[in-house]
Amino acid sequence: MHLPDYKEARKRDIRPYHRVEFQFDDKVKNKYQGKTFYLKTYGCQMNEHDSENIEALLEFLGFAKVDDYTAADLVLLNTCSIRENAHNKAFGMLGRLKHLKQEKKDLIVGLCGCMAQEASVVDTILQDYRWVNFVFGTHNMYQLPEIIDKAIEENKQQIEVFSREGDLVEGVPVRRVNDYKAYVNIIYGCNKFCTYCIVPYTRGRERSRLKEDVLKEVQELVRDGYKEVTLLGQNVNAYGKDIYDDYTMANLLEDVAKMGIPRIRFTTSHPWDFTDEMIDVIAKYDNIMPSVHLPVQSGSSRILKLMGRRYTKESYLELFHKIKNKVPRVSISTDIIVGFPGETEEDFLETLDLVRECQYDNAFTFIFSKREGTPACRLADPVPLKEKEERLQRLNEVVNHYFLENNKRLVGCELEVLVEGISDKKHMYYGYSDTNKLINFSSEKELKPGDILMVKIVDAKTWSLDGEMVE
Ligand code: SAH
Ligand code: SF4
Ligand code: F3S
Repeated sequence: MHLPDYKEARKRDIRPYHRVEFQFDDKVKNKYQGKTFYLKTYGCQMNEHDSENIEALLEFLGFAKVDDYTAADLVLLNTCSIRENAHNKAFGMLGRLKHLKQEKKDLIVGLCGCMAQEASVVDTILQDYRWVNFVFGTHNMYQLPEIIDKAIEENKQQIEVFSREGDLVEGVPVRRVNDYKAYVNIIYGCNKFCTYCIVPYTRGRERSRLKEDVLKEVQELVRDGYKEVTLLGQNVNAYGKDIYDDYTMANLLEDVAKMGIPRIRFTTSHPWDFTDEMIDVIAKYDNIMPSVHLPVQSGSSRILKLMGRRYTKESYLELFHKIKNKVPRVSISTDIIVGFPGETEEDFLETLDLVRECQYDNAFTFIFSKREGTPACRLADPVPLKEKEERLQRLNEVVNHYFLENNKRLVGCELEVLVEGISDKKHMYYGYSDTNKLINFSSEKELKPGDILMVKIVDAKTWSLDGEMVE
């Protein structure tokens, strides 16, 4: 048994790590053939992509996927810790599974992902959820086959969570959700330790994959006909800093662009590490999408300092405008937290001012959620929740206004769209533009997911655009 230890997870020292190849254990290959699994994924793209590995590992064991958890022999929750409601959702699901297990004694239930890295969650599981069969963490996801096999063979709860990042494991199998767009991890973990955020504790320190490994994966996607690749990391801009003296995110972006995959995206960018070289590369290559997610969190420099974000309102705006000026047609989206401890009405008004200046194309807005063990948890927080909810609503009105205004400006334009699917209505499809706008459009021609075509915009809504295929 390995239990998560927050003291360990909090350590900021950067340890040497080794690249190792994933080893298949042939003893358990197809051992559970005939059994089924249901996998529920909460949280960000990192977790979605981890789930693509988890699915492949479950298939290696012989499990087949089902879409109804009540029909599965094994249910696995890949959890998220970022805000309290993510916790509540996972525990709510565990409640339903407890009932199911009373009827279905052989049901195997497991929990993994970011919540598994939290000592308090694992304590609760140890005390009140003895019926949960296994728990493993983000750092040892690749051990899934042996952990599940042991939980079943020994019929005993298995808790296997490493508190610190271990080796960087390459070659873990992957079952990709799509055959036209793919996620590629480039860097794991985060060293920024924003004072509100739990990610550095659940995902460990920044560890870049070797550029050769990233480029090889992209090369295989090109060979397999993929149209879009999203380079993933909690802070992709820090790529390379931990392993190279002279190879950066700008170099990686350029090398990926040269491989000729039609569309390249990357997420998330922390404003701190966004270099001029990166901006130049984004502007230079047509296949790097003109779309940047640039979380600002707050428009008040005082709050930004308390958040430990390492930039001021002024330096953020300088970067924002530099990107806008250098990358033609670029769309910029953001994340904003309201109600950080001690945020005053004046601080909040500064956030509204910044939003009016930036006129974002999209924004994810949140109320601050206390995460145990983070520094912000200990700050005085006198503003009542009701007032924070009102701030969120006021903020949402302003951001939504600009979404619609920006979209209206696109009516009459032609945008390049990657088809993602067919909507219920006849001859109607949906997909995303290069600038990451959701477009619903009509086409007389038969299309399939992964097709790229030009669409003329005919109408604008707050969160989407309507269009027609250009003949
Ligand atoms: N690495 C990314 C953030 C990933 S978390 C970045 O820094 O850009 C996604 C978003 O969740 C954050 O940008 C932040 O806006 C929000 N978030 C993180 N911790 C939070 C908390 N404790 N309460 C509310 N929102 C939070
Ligand atoms: Fe969290 Fe900040 Fe790291 Fe993003 S950069 S994951 S907000 S600590
Ligand atoms: Fe959640 Fe972990 Fe992602 S906390 S947002 S799943 S890195």
